[in-house]
Amino acid sequence: MSSVVVLGSFNVDHVWRCEALPVPGATIAGRYATGPGGKGFNQAIAAVRAGAQTTFLCALGEDAGGAMALELAAQDGLTLVAEASTEPTGTGGIYVDAHGRNTIVIGAGANATLSPAFVEAERARIASARVLLAQLESPPATVEAGLALARQAGVTTVLNAAPANAPTSIGLLKLADVLTPNETEFAALLARHVGERVEPDNVAALDGNSLHALCRKLLPGGTVVVTLGSVGAFISHAEELQRGDIQPHYRIAAETVQAIDTTGAGDAFNGALVASMARAPDLPFATHVRFANLFAALSTERVGAALAMPVLAEVEVRVG
Ligand code: RIB
Repeated sequence: MSSVVVLGSFNVDHVWRCEALPVPGATIAGRYATGPGGKGFNQAIAAVRAGAQTTFLCALGEDAGGAMALELAAQDGLTLVAEASTEPTGTGGIYVDAHGRNTIVIGAGANATLSPAFVEAERARIASARVLLAQLESPPATVEAGLALARQAGVTTVLNAAPANAPTSIGLLKLADVLTPNETEFAALLARHVGERVEPDNVAALDGNSLHALCRKLLPGGTVVVTLGSVGAFISHAEELQRGDIQPHYRIAAETVQAIDTTGAGDAFNGALVASMARAPDLPFATHVRFANLFAALSTERVGAALAMPVLAEVEVRVG
């Protein structure tokens, strides 16, 4: 039985560490590195390192990038099931500045060919999981197929609505039991689906009741976790389903760490969140968020995306 199924993207990341992010027209120097990434793969590696038996459903090209994904998954004990694509394996071009902030360009490649039919063929694997996690670097119809199959089977569905510019529909959002946007994604979803305009930079400063009201409009029947970077996270539950929590809405503060690279921090949070939900479904939701918060913070102390994910023992040491 797979506790967690992650449905999503794999990218070969090409990373330049620079003093400042490049501006239009500029040529600047940076230190280059390459490694595995893609929001789906990062989240799947986070989930398996956070202690959940994890399966990753993705599409790979028949090239060196695809071989890298298979090899690294095997090293981490991640079950990777790939749809073969005639497109090249996905790529990400990432600039990281001296503060650890990044700018990312994606070449979707094979990720854009991940098909609903492939996901439907993996119906049994999805139905035997406790939690299904998806993001939006795969075709919307494919993400919808995965969430719908999980919902039919009674599997808890978590949708990380990233990146912010990916297309979404109300139908897709409603298939999520838990929605996990960051401030930018939250603002984009509110503008698109609720008709509310909020500046991403102002989200964290909103008072709890106002944020809760916006979350309720966005996903009336589900839980919304707005990740707020260095400020932590805001959690909003539907009144009728508080997932073991005492309050319908609350904040959890960020952990204090020396961040050197925030690439994949949101992925670390999502992977750790679903791993904790799958491993201990009876614990209050706040416990899962606290674990995910710490896991994500630790991932920023290392350079890279998938390979920067901590392992469970490191998190436990920090908890004390
Ligand atoms: O969330 C970080 C990830 O976004 C990177 O690994 C990159 O590949 C993009 O998918």
